[in-house]
Parts: sequence; structure tokens; C-alpha cells
Amino acid sequence: MVDASDLLLLAEQIAREAGELARRRRDEGVRIAATKSALADIVTEADREVETLIRARLAAARPGDGFLGEESGAERGSTEITWVVDPIDGTVNYAYGIPHYAVSIAAVAGDPDPELWSVQAGVVFAPVTGDLFRAARGSGAWLGADRLAVSRPTDAGALLATGFGYDPATHAGDLERVRTVMPLARDLRRAGAASLDLAYVAAGRLDGYFERGLAPWDHAAGALLVEEAGGVVGGAPGGRPGRQMTIAAGPDLYAALDTAIYH
Ligand code: IPD
Repeated sequence: MVDASDLLLLAEQIAREAGELARRRRDEGVRIAATKSALADIVTEADREVETLIRARLAAARPGDGFLGEESGAERGSTEITWVVDPIDGTVNYAYGIPHYAVSIAAVAGDPDPELWSVQAGVVFAPVTGDLFRAARGSGAWLGADRLAVSRPTDAGALLATGFGYDPATHAGDLERVRTVMPLARDLRRAGAASLDLAYVAAGRLDGYFERGLAPWDHAAGALLVEEAGGVVGGAPGGRPGRQMTIAAGPDLYAALDTAIYH
């Protein structure tokens, strides 16, 4: 049986090194290497370089594990662990010089499919602020020496965050969802890095978050942070977080968001 705290330690070390590389490359100037599925779906040379670094470090430390990365795809391993990696989450922010981006690394056990896996350890590291959010299953979510806990928003309304999928065909639905959810909100953010949206829910910096269209590497580490901070993360009613929907909040607000979005 794997020890989640060992996986967390490794993820933490690699995320720090990767985040520093991303930050250095940003200071040197960013080049957009390709536009992928849509205008907002870009990849920079740094995304690829940072993922290569993370993959090499993981392969050296745990050669049998599987890998699923935003830029270099999936490789099945021979152990029960797969590493799920977004080298730079918030690539559009990164490319435009907005410092809100993060390295996200998760170790998942079982089938490497978000419907089936169990996230064992997760790190979301924002190199510009130095915030390193971390969680191992059963051991809580942490930022430095502070144990994280989701907020319990009052009647004043919730500070919510969302994101918009890359596929323009889904934008009308995204905007309609915002309209239905706004009565619950004190205010709404679209900050541009899903892993940080989830980490901020874990830390109580945001009360709740919802977004359609997330990829596994966007939510794997952040979802564990929210759960270990006492929150709920789910998707379409009764489902896991993922492409159809990701909702994250404390239990009461989660139920209210689920109702606003689906009923
Ligand atoms: C994106 C960001 C964004 C979210 C998108 C993600 P990327 O990740 O997290 O906030 O709205 O759904 O794909 O492409 O910057 O790694």
C-alpha cells in the first residue's frame, strides 16, 4: 500500500522546482507555441518545458508509475499510482503577464479516470505568491503551517468563482449558469486558473466555485484540497467533478449551488 505522505512530499519538491522554472521562463519572455482547440486554449514553450521537467523527476523517483499530463498525454504505469499534472494552470494569465497561475500535481490511485480514481496527494503551487497548497488523503489540507478549512458563508452572500470552457458552443450555457447562480452571490470572480479556484475554496478565500468543461489535470489536486478542508466537490448531480461540471464549496453552499444549477 502506498504512503500518501511520501507521494505528497515528492509532489511538493517537484512542484517547487517546476514553479521556479515557470517563473524564470516568464521573466525571460513568453512565446505562445501553439493555439490548440480555441483562441483561449494556448500552450507556451514553458508549458512544455515545465511538464518535461516534472515527468523526468517523477520517472526518476518512481519509475513504474503512470502519467497523465496536459501537454504530453497519458502513459499507463505498472503500479497503482498515476501522476496527473498541469504544468502551468492559467496559461492565458501566464502568457499575458498576469501572475495568477500555478503548477498542479496529483497522485491518484486506481484507474486513471476521474470517474474511478481516488486522489491520494495533491499540490497546487503558485510560484509568484509562493503559496503552496497541499493535501494527502486523510491528513487535511495545508498552506504552510495553517490547516485549511472551507468557509461557512452567511446570509450576506457567497464570493463565487467560475470559468468559461474553451469551446465557444458552450459559452451561452456558461452565461446562463452565471445568471441562475448570481442570487447566491456577494460577487463573482473569473480568475483564470481552475486549480487555484479550488485551492482558494479550500482556504476559505472563495466560498464556492463552479465550472463546466474541466480536464482531469485542472481539478485532480484541487479537488483533494477541497475535500480535505471539509468541503464537497462534485459534478453533475451525484457525479464526480469533470468535463460535465465541477462544483466545489462547503456542504450547505454546495447544495445551494447544485440546486441553482440543476433544478
Ligand atoms: C484552464 C484554466 C482556466 C479554466 C480552463 C482551464 P490551462 O487551464 O484553469 O481557469 O477556465 O477550463 O482549462 O489551460 O490554463 O491549463
